[in-house]
Amino acid sequence: MKYNFDELVDRIHEEGSYSTKWGNNERMAKMFLTDKLPEDRLCFFVADMDFRCAPEITEALVKEAQHGIFGYSAAPKEYFDAIIRWMKVRFDLDVKAEEIRTAHGAHSAIVEAIQKLTKVGDGVLVPRPTYYYNGDVTGVGRHYVGFQMKNDNGYYTMDWEAFEALCKEPQNTMAIFQQPHNPTGRTWTPEEIEKIAKICRENNVIMLCDDVHMDIARKDVKVTPFIKVAGPEGIVMVTGINKTFNLAGLAVTNVIIQDPALREKMGPAMPMLSPFGIRACITAYTECDQWVDELNEYLDDCIDYVVDRFHKELPKVKVHKPEGTYILWLDFTDCGFTNEELHQRIAGQAHIGFSDGEGMEPPAGTLFRRFCVTSPKSVLKECMDRLVEVLK
Ligand SMILES: Cc1ncc(COP(=O)(O)O)c(C=O)c1O
Repeated sequence: MKYNFDELVDRIHEEGSYSTKWGNNERMAKMFLTDKLPEDRLCFFVADMDFRCAPEITEALVKEAQHGIFGYSAAPKEYFDAIIRWMKVRFDLDVKAEEIRTAHGAHSAIVEAIQKLTKVGDGVLVPRPTYYYNGDVTGVGRHYVGFQMKNDNGYYTMDWEAFEALCKEPQNTMAIFQQPHNPTGRTWTPEEIEKIAKICRENNVIMLCDDVHMDIARKDVKVTPFIKVAGPEGIVMVTGINKTFNLAGLAVTNVIIQDPALREKMGPAMPMLSPFGIRACITAYTECDQWVDELNEYLDDCIDYVVDRFHKELPKVKVHKPEGTYILWLDFTDCGFTNEELHQRIAGQAHIGFSDGEGMEPPAGTLFRRFCVTSPKSVLKECMDRLVEVLK
């Protein structure tokens, strides 16, 4: 391996991190059931990684910093060429510059698409469990319409009947999908995508595809963007460098819209990106293929290790190996704990931070946690040792 993902980076004390996940604030202390954050805490709840980004990107950003003038900036042709290259080389997807718009993070892109492509009072469909879209939808006066997916021992599929029935209701005009899906780790197959697209198109439901995790998948899994399988009609694809290259703090998101009618409705507005974001995106999409390949290899090993330990040492916790993303969706329903008891053991005793499952809308009466497996192997080993200790 050319890159070192085993390096332990101190995101608590090292100057310049400003990390949400590791930072010292009251909200975090509460999460660990204490006034003062434990120094030995292990945090796995935010979807960012504890690996330094590719050195090629750091070098490019240093050069940018050395320029010393950070005035108003505009994404140049190389920016769009870099995205076009990445989509072609990694996904065999042909994209044109005029089909790309920019946003500051996926949430702003999603909110903008909801505002411009639906009306106040419309319903936006979201398969559950899910990453957090409720605020994006209700914040702009649309109805959030969640519906459960089918769960077969941790393998999630669409509830086709429920989905189709909701699509047929005329006030529901948009549905949000993710490829791959957070938190279940599903990567939708071409057959599933075609079926989703057929139902949506028959009922004039726009597909808002949040593909921010598209570059992260197990080695035997191919991630196919919806737009690649189903063609452009009625699809908005949100992607970016934030997750793949661990650059969420730069908030560079790209939105690909190949349907001319949707592009026209979206209009020309595009926010200005910072010179750092522009430079990072160009470098990521032109010089960092190997870094992403090696990252995926490393994450494969990490996920295998963690899933194996759950299966062998904590078999009551149901864990399904995700096809894509670095996210595990842990089902504690059969462990016999209440939510508070589980929290007391994991956060209070083991000092481990997982995302609470409830916010991701699993069915009532279940008990879930989300675990982002985004740390060096030695940290994951420590995490699993502590978990086994407090849950056995
Ligand atoms: C599926 C998904 N969409 C959107 C986001 C938010 O992305 P951004 O930071 O680019 O707004 C996340 C972050 O975890 C995510 O997992």
